[in-house]
Amino acid sequence: MVGLIPSVFIDDLLTRVDVVDLIDSYLPLKKTGSNYVARCPFHTEKTPSFSVSRSKQFYHCFGCGASGNAIGFLMDFSHLNFVEAVEDLASFVGIDVPREESATRPLHDKQDLASLYTVQQHVAKFYAQQLRDSSNDDLAVQYFKTRGVSGEVARDFLLGYAPDQWHLLADQFEVGLLKKAGLVIAKENGRVYDRFRGRIMFPIRDRRGRVVAFGARVLGDAVPKYLNSPETPVFQKSNEVYGLYELLEKEGRPAQILLVEGYMDVIALAQFGLRNAVATLGTAPSRMHFDLLFRFTTEIVVCFDGDEAGLKAAWRAVEAALPCLKDGRHIRIMLLPEREDPDSLIRSEGVDAFLARLATASSLSDYFFSCLSEDLDMQTLEGRAALMVKAKAHLEILPPGYFREMMVGKLNEQVEHVAVELKPEGTRRRSNTSKEKVTPARTANALLLQNPELAQSQFLNEGVNLSLDSPGLNLLRKVLAVIAEKPELTTGGLLESFRGEPEESQVRALVQMPVLVPEAVLEMEFAGAVRRLVAQVVEADLAQLLKKEQALGLTLDEKKKMLRFLAMK
Ligand code: UTP
Ligand code: MN
Repeated sequence: MVGLIPSVFIDDLLTRVDVVDLIDSYLPLKKTGSNYVARCPFHTEKTPSFSVSRSKQFYHCFGCGASGNAIGFLMDFSHLNFVEAVEDLASFVGIDVPREESATRPLHDKQDLASLYTVQQHVAKFYAQQLRDSSNDDLAVQYFKTRGVSGEVARDFLLGYAPDQWHLLADQFEVGLLKKAGLVIAKENGRVYDRFRGRIMFPIRDRRGRVVAFGARVLGDAVPKYLNSPETPVFQKSNEVYGLYELLEKEGRPAQILLVEGYMDVIALAQFGLRNAVATLGTAPSRMHFDLLFRFTTEIVVCFDGDEAGLKAAWRAVEAALPCLKDGRHIRIMLLPEREDPDSLIRSEGVDAFLARLATASSLSDYFFSCLSEDLDMQTLEGRAALMVKAKAHLEILPPGYFREMMVGKLNEQVEHVAVELKPEGTRRRSNTSKEKVTPARTANALLLQNPELAQSQFLNEGVNLSLDSPGLNLLRKVLAVIAEKPELTTGGLLESFRGEPEESQVRALVQMPVLVPEAVLEMEFAGAVRRLVAQVVEADLAQLLKKEQALGLTLDEKKKMLRFLAMK
């Protein structure tokens, strides 16, 4: 970690950028009325339903529901994490991001990280250079030739060669940095030697193209076949996939991503023009991998060897993918003939046959049910009941949506007369409140969030009691408190101040909730909604007190409270 970004800086940043200018620099906007519109960059559409509001500093797509402020736009559009988006935005307006000194000294300061990226970038270039250096007897060039790797692909992937020598790097680069990057290993006497010797080098780049680690393959049959960089402050192997940067360079929003097992599979597919493959780094595909890849595509095809180990791995991948399968995201499973990998297969069959196989890869739903019912006799009631038990547990972790309903429907078909009922999916909040009921609580909060100037409304100081405990009033108080502290916040700025708070998704939904109220009566509508909300809460509290009075009697405090409520009616 490099120190926290102070929250006042983020507020300040959001007041300096204009979301219209920012978005316009990525996709040209057209002015219509008080808004700016364009065709939505987050889904395919013919007519523009993506709208940006200068006064609210907020964008919203009526087609796909994408929405957010300037930071959110950069996160989604440029696939950045929060800190990266803040940094990009700061450079857009030409200022530096300050960092708060944390009480405990940060583990790695920014300088350290930057130099780790730089040294690895230089070493990658050095290894690429060695590939062409005649003093290395063309060993690596010959190797690439026999495996059919062209100069173009080698360049795109920055492939290189680490000559079979012990002390190449330390002579040219700073030893401290080489050690930190895991490129050299220290001996007891303090001397260091190169970790990678006599190997083909595969630089692993992060989404922004920075070299974060290396994979390295022997030229012959020695073991271990592959060595990887150790984990460092800039590299966690379960967070990266090989080939993602190179893929996004060619195509920012690929229709499909192939997830394969090996470095050489990615390279061979690229060699045949299939530039949409990535590989995990010797680990099983995890939920993290799927979440990462689904930021760039809507369909992932997982390729596995058809042997027993491959089948097991495919099922594990399916289990890992289930929680990410929101509507609109698809997984397919492509099983290869035994002892083949994409590299060997595309070479022996050619690209057309490979694409034909790809086209017939099983859908996740078919694969799921065929795996689960494999050892079961579906002709018997016992078999069908067993399928239901097995499938239910898995389907319950699917996020809510049509896909989940479709899977339940399919399960129903398969088990026939055994009725299926899933437990509601508890951990996720429903994201689409626009279809939900319009209540005074939602209206009041939506109006305030969308028109922060309503916090100045006179009626708020004239005897409305906002202090009662109810989710709607609690949120209203919190929003009012944020505005009281920073009266200049726009809707986009307000949304930002709720990032990471428990109310974040609720606020996000309310910001988008359609409340069509003419400017002139905005305050009246707001006052009406707040008063109805308070009345509702009083009514509910009162009903509860009355019930308790009849059943158990009231304490003195409760009696006072009841009198107060009655007076408020
Ligand atoms: P494979 O053996 O299938 O690799 O291992 P590959 O890319 O097809 O290699 P070639 O075709 O023999 O050159 C799949 C992945 O498992 C990891 C690597 O990430 C490799 O790409 N692996 C494999 C290791 O980390 N270490 C090993 O010793 C072997
Ligand atoms: Mn292989």
